[in-house]
Parts: sequence; structure tokens; C-alpha cells
Amino acid sequence: MRRKLVAGNWKMHGSLAENEALLSGLLAGMGGVKAGVAVCVPFPYLAQAQARLTGSAVAWGAQNMSQQARGAFTGEVSASMLADFACAYVIVGHSERRALYGESDELVAEKYAAAQAAGMTPILCLGETLSEREGCITEAVVARQLDAVIAKCGVASLARAVVAYEPVWAIGTGVTASPNQAQVVHAFIRARVRALDAGVAAGLIIQYGGSVKANNAAELFGQPDIDGGLIGGASLNVEEFLAICRAG
Ligand code: PGA
Repeated sequence: MRRKLVAGNWKMHGSLAENEALLSGLLAGMGGVKAGVAVCVPFPYLAQAQARLTGSAVAWGAQNMSQQARGAFTGEVSASMLADFACAYVIVGHSERRALYGESDELVAEKYAAAQAAGMTPILCLGETLSEREGCITEAVVARQLDAVIAKCGVASLARAVVAYEPVWAIGTGVTASPNQAQVVHAFIRARVRALDAGVAAGLIIQYGGSVKANNAAELFGQPDIDGGLIGGASLNVEEFLAICRAG
């Protein structure tokens, strides 16, 4: 039985004061939450997250990292730096990174490998754009993105990873994939892993992301292959986020 995981992706939002309010509200409201909960915060706030969340039921992580270990890479942050702040998770291959910063499937696979080598659990984002969905290549796109990681790290590596299916057209748009639309792709991802390793597939957490709100989370999370969510906008509102956590 997989335990659901609800992770907040704060993106480039927050301040010390705003985060303090959000984190203390979150900690105060965790009673009765059965799902695993995490927040993925901007780099400068990792120390704050660590200080506030150590010893609590809420894990923390980052939203991106370099594939490089160290060196002359101005502005980059390595996996070992994230591990220094006890990050449990790091998001890799978010569609905003792929689209706005040109991250390729191969680069994402390198980041995934580096995250695991540093002892963190990568949250690997997969998902098609609207034109790809309209062109009926959703499964081909998701398979290509997933296969790049399997080719580099092997299917067994997915036992130490989380996958997030995030249709790009549903991110930040208020348009959520219907529970059935999402379930179809989640089942496809799990079947593709199962074809290589049934045990890994059975244990793999596959989150859904894209305009998850308190009022649609329960139905999405009720699908057989949806194991929680990666939550953007709604993770910035403590009541909304807690309601989503309670749906998990
Ligand atoms: P959203 O973002 O919940 O604001 O749609 C999800 C994500 O980008 O991870």
C-alpha cells in the first residue's frame, strides 16, 4: 500500500515573514493528516525550513539543483549543498525549468542521478504541453521523459524517487486534468515501469500536479494510480494546502 505524498512547490514566492506564517500554520494544522507532506522552498529559505521543520511531520526540499558536483558554475547550487540543509526532496525537470531554461531530458536525468547520489529523493516531473496533447502524443512525450532517466540510472533507481505527472496545460491555469484524464496517464506511467520491474512499479509514488485545489484534490487522489500531488499556487495558502493534505 503506497502512502500518498503531498508536496508544496512554492516556486519563486515567499519571504522570511511570509514563510514563518505559512510554516507555523502548517505545523499547527497537521493533526489528522495521513499523507506524507513536504514543502519545496526557494534556496535562500532552506535554512529557515530546516530550523522550523526539523523533528516535525513535514519534510522539506528544493525546486532545482545543478547536475555538477562543484566548480566554476556561477549561480548554481549543488546536490551536496542541498543535502547540507537536510533536504529530503528536490524537484527535477519541472516544466518551467524545461520550457524557460531549456532543460533537456538528458540534463534532467543527470540532475536526478546527482540528487540520488547525494541521498535525496528526486521528484521527477513529466508532462505534455497542450499542443502535444492535441497532437495525441501525450504518452510518447511522457515515455520519452521517463525513459531518459531509466536509461541513465536504471529502473531500480525509481525505488528511491517520486514521479510527478504534471500536464503543462494544467499548471497555474486553473484548468485541472479530469480525474480520469490524469488516471489514464498515471496508469500508463506505472505500466511502463511495471514492464521492467513489477515491484518497483507497485511501490512508485506518482503524484499529480496542475491546479490541484482543496475542492478537486479528493477526487484526483481517489484514483487508483494517483498517489498525492505536487501543489503550486494552492500551497501558498495554509488552509487550502492543509485541506489538500487532508484529502491525501
Ligand atoms: P499549480 O502548479 O498547482 O499552481 O498549477 C503545480 C506545479 O507547477 O507544480
